[in-house]
Amino acid sequence: MCKYLPPQSIPIPILQKRKGVEVIKKTFFFLLPTDNLQLTTHFIIFAAMAKEVVLSGIRPTGFLHLGNYFGAMRNYVRMQDEYNCYFFVANWHSLTTHPDTKELQTAVHRVIAENVACGLDPEKVSLYVQSDVPEIAELYLYLNMLAYKGELEKTVTFKEKVRLQPDNINAGLLTYPVLQAADILIHRAVKVPVGKDQEQHLEMARNFAQRFNHRYGDVLPEPFAFNYGGELVKILSLDGNGKMSKSENQLNTLYLADSDEMLKKKIMKAKTDGGPETPNSVKPDYIENLFTLMKLVSAEDTLQKFEADFDASSAGNCIIRYGDLKKQLAEDMIKFITPIREKAADIQNNKDLLSKIIKQGADKARESASATLLEVRKAIGMNY
Ligand code: TYM
Repeated sequence: MCKYLPPQSIPIPILQKRKGVEVIKKTFFFLLPTDNLQLTTHFIIFAAMAKEVVLSGIRPTGFLHLGNYFGAMRNYVRMQDEYNCYFFVANWHSLTTHPDTKELQTAVHRVIAENVACGLDPEKVSLYVQSDVPEIAELYLYLNMLAYKGELEKTVTFKEKVRLQPDNINAGLLTYPVLQAADILIHRAVKVPVGKDQEQHLEMARNFAQRFNHRYGDVLPEPFAFNYGGELVKILSLDGNGKMSKSENQLNTLYLADSDEMLKKKIMKAKTDGGPETPNSVKPDYIENLFTLMKLVSAEDTLQKFEADFDASSAGNCIIRYGDLKKQLAEDMIKFITPIREKAADIQNNKDLLSKIIKQGADKARESASATLLEVRKAIGMNY
């Protein structure tokens, strides 16, 4: 009889790539009774029904903001009911840019608390801290042998960090995408909910998986960036200048922990102009950005009203009042963020709950990670 196999350890892409009973038999030869066609068929159905694995992570390098929420966390919450999900706090990654660890524990707890406050259920997903899963570090080591200096140096995020911290161009920074690939591949995840800025890292993770499979045999499925609705999201800072970010341009970033007064202050100070001079004008980036934020947090008819006001503007008769638009946006943003901030603060003050969530998440993550590592070692031939 078939032994129980946890769904996350079934390499579904292998099933999708090479169909047929013989291939299934070959892949699962250690589980299947060789000539029992009926059992084999049951196994195929079971494998096809198994949930796909999802993984994503957030660095604890500052307060989480609206970009993190709409680029990534909103998807996590929807995905938790449909997929086998792993979400984690990337505290090893944070050391590449933030070597001072005085604030790290608080920041890790905050990320966990904010994820739960946004709707993640630690009973449904594995919510863990990266350094609690040492198996990732071993896979990172193997993948490092398949990553080349030239491609790592060309990575956009590496070049950006070199510009920002010329005195600390450490090896961890260079191999950052390799560690990210290990994070993903250790659970054999195929869907990775992330914002637009992570697209290149996902492409690199696919390259490393392909190289591993080519050299050692099919073990690691190729992961893809995911967003409900297709296009990956990039939320701009309030001045429309670059993406919202945890540590840069803080007065133009809306944090999930911002007080009502702070949210209002930031939004009311957002850059605008004298209004459009002709009807149906193209919106400048900073105005478009305010409408984008409104689309995310305001009611549909509110958005329609301001869109119509903008289009109806004409020379000498500008209908739209940006002051009113910002006031409405601030009100709706406060309604959206306040419950998250308050719930996150409660969870963050509950150290017992945090420890329980983190321990439970690590146990589940290690189970899946060690199953992959076993296959990885076997494929490389490091199973003495
Ligand atoms: P990080 O911590 O910078 O961001 C966490 C998530 O938020 C998304 N994001 C945004 N989305 C839209 N607009 C924005 N302005 C914006 N800013 C951030 C990011 O795309 C990300 O999804 N390298 C990753 C952490 C990581 C990871 C992983 C992610 C480590 N290992 C494995 C996925 C899988 C990072 O720095 O995210």
